[in-house]
Amino acid sequence: VGKPIGIALIGCGVVGTGVLRLLAEHRESIEARIGSSLEIRGIVVSDPSRERDPLVPSALLTTDGEALVRSHDVDLVVEVMGGVARAGALVRLALETGKHVVTANKALLAEEGVALSALAEQKGLDLYYEAAVAGGIPIIRVLREGLSSDRVRAVYGIVNGTSNYILSRMRSAGLEFAVALAEAQSAGYAEADPTLDVGGGDAAHKLTVLARLAFGQHVRTEHVAIEGIDRVSRVDMQFAERFGYEIKPLAIAQRLTDGRLDLRVHPALVQQDAALAGIHGALNAVYVHGELVGPSLLSGLGAGAGPTAVSVVADVVDVAQNLVAGAPARRAAGVRDANAKVSVQPIGELVSSYYVRMTVRDRPGVLARVTGSLASHAVSVEQMVQQRPETASSEVAATLVFLTHEAREQDLRAAITEIDASQDVVSPTNVIRIVDQA
Ligand code: NDP
Ligand code: HSE
Repeated sequence: VGKPIGIALIGCGVVGTGVLRLLAEHRESIEARIGSSLEIRGIVVSDPSRERDPLVPSALLTTDGEALVRSHDVDLVVEVMGGVARAGALVRLALETGKHVVTANKALLAEEGVALSALAEQKGLDLYYEAAVAGGIPIIRVLREGLSSDRVRAVYGIVNGTSNYILSRMRSAGLEFAVALAEAQSAGYAEADPTLDVGGGDAAHKLTVLARLAFGQHVRTEHVAIEGIDRVSRVDMQFAERFGYEIKPLAIAQRLTDGRLDLRVHPALVQQDAALAGIHGALNAVYVHGELVGPSLLSGLGAGAGPTAVSVVADVVDVAQNLVAGAPARRAAGVRDANAKVSVQPIGELVSSYYVRMTVRDRPGVLARVTGSLASHAVSVEQMVQQRPETASSEVAATLVFLTHEAREQDLRAAITEIDASQDVVSPTNVIRIVDQA
């Protein structure tokens, strides 16, 4: 057995504690794989006096991340703290002082991943981030290694466990949104700021990381059109079901035939018999379409202490094996030219079919005017239902739900703006895209 490998653990919340538990429970097999032992040199937290799991060694807790990262007996920094500014400063310091890095921080990678990868490469150090996308699913390795010889046409799926959990619980148990979110938080799935989950930002960070690996371009989160699941109500789920669909939180990155990228995160209606419709709770699933390999689907738990720790520690094992072998660092990022312009299809140019739910006054001529507006913007209706709500206060209102044929998004939005501005409509119309290839 070789010299012990020293680890600085930055963060000891859901994931950090999961990492310590996994290392404790699987120590023997992990060290046998590595051919050396792993030793935690220190653990950075914001409040060392906080009550913690008894397996956390309190003597190792510190708030002085800089001193720990700089220390000579640290070989590898594992960042599971989250956030961009402080985590980024510590990761940069680690690389500048010759430490390999494993991180689960997709927000940091989305913002600074290309620069950090370049720094790691310049310093001859490893930067691994398997846990940053889809928790326990090894999608980073699949794109970086398994499918690296193919040309990827599309990567898409469900990459936010909290959103998928919330929609699943709303549908299966009839929970209110806030109650389902509270459950996801207490299970350790949600971000410290859960608006990142429900607003689509977390999925957009992950899509940014995936798209860079898939297409070799310097995709930024600003390139991604983002809508959260906060716009989805139980009423929408029930109507979707009547039409044979489920609503799922999707993230989509595809290379179009004209070379532009289509990058978006949004809830979507997917057919009930589609594979992604069967992905429930905190499960994630990611399709990769390669030119030669065709479609392949990976699924597994996308959030939570255990699955995420599996990915973090798998990265630790890789880095440690490299250290033991004295192997040089791997080439880091898939981005070919960090300064090349990325050409992205504006969301208004998307051609899709749509679910449209309107609340209108129940009086003669409304339906004709609504369908007339849609038709005048080249939006054709494929199916429609009209339903009068049962509550007494809604005597004058009726719900109209349309599924459209394929239309250009900007045309549909123009029609909805016109319709919503009319006296016929009682409250803003809800539009959700339909994704048929899921
Ligand atoms: P938590 O909020 O549970 O834990 C964060 C940890 O970092 C805590 O120990 C906290 O200290 C410490 N910390 C936070 N800010 C500071 C600071 N400024 N200085 C020092 N310490 C700080 O987060 P998670 O464990 O859930 O997530 C960690 C990272 O992993 C994030 O990047 C997240 O996106 C990512 N991730 C999370 C997954 C999950 O399922 N939870 C899955 C995949 C990735 P203290 O304990 O004192 O509060
Ligand atoms: N908050 C994230 C999610 C954690 O719910 O998917 C996993 O990245």
